[in-house]
Amino acid sequence: MLNHTAVLFFVLLTGSHYGSLAGSEDLEIQNPWDNLFQIQNPWDNLSTLLKNIPKKTEFPPPKFRLIGSRYFYIEQQIEQNWTTAASTCRQMGGYLAAIKDEEEAQAIIARLSPFVFYYVGINDHEIKRSFVSLASGKPAFLKWSKGEPDYVFHDQNCVSIFNFNDNDEGLMLGPCSNKHNFICQADVEI
Ligand SMILES: *[C@@H]1O[C@H](CO)[C@@H](O)[C@H](O)[C@H]1NC(C)=O
Ligand SMILES: *[C@@H]1O[C@H](CO)[C@@H](O)[C@H](O)[C@H]1NC(C)=O
Repeated sequence: MLNHTAVLFFVLLTGSHYGSLAGSEDLEIQNPWDNLFQIQNPWDNLSTLLKNIPKKTEFPPPKFRLIGSRYFYIEQQIEQNWTTAASTCRQMGGYLAAIKDEEEAQAIIARLSPFVFYYVGINDHEIKRSFVSLASGKPAFLKWSKGEPDYVFHDQNCVSIFNFNDNDEGLMLGPCSNKHNFICQADVEI
């Protein structure tokens, strides 16, 4: 009986030893996006931080689904501000999404709940009114909602898709601190 207790004790000790080893390894992998959370302007340091994130090798990443010809993840439940949404997409192995063309826009919009904002990675943070994809830096396909892009607020430069359910679905500009659902893409082609 005494022997058994000793063995069990040893196993527990060893187990917790390995456990803490694994824990400290995890801590060494720094997520560059952590720094972004402290930055006031969401566009600061963006390209630097993107480059520093190791690209996941698995393709498509888990949870991403084929919509038209590309893989997307549409977050229907969780609402995050633009910075956090961009970070979440990266942690999932993708990027905040941009849209290829009209056909793809329609296919995505068909999967969105009406009257709900979904952040995308289309942005003009380098040159105002010159909208590019966050993932590739290429000029973005734009399907603006009526009256957009409308710079009403000073910090209003984060793009989301909104489906009015009356044929006026499309892109809108809004404050980056608003919390919305979001759409991630898997590739860096667009
Ligand atoms: C972010 O940008 C600031 C100034 O633009 C620079 O001093 C800082 O080193 C950058 N940080 C990262 C993580 O690139
Ligand atoms: C998003 O939320 C994080 C965490 O609360 C915050 O640090 C960051 O400044 C926010 N970003 C924007 C653009 O509001």
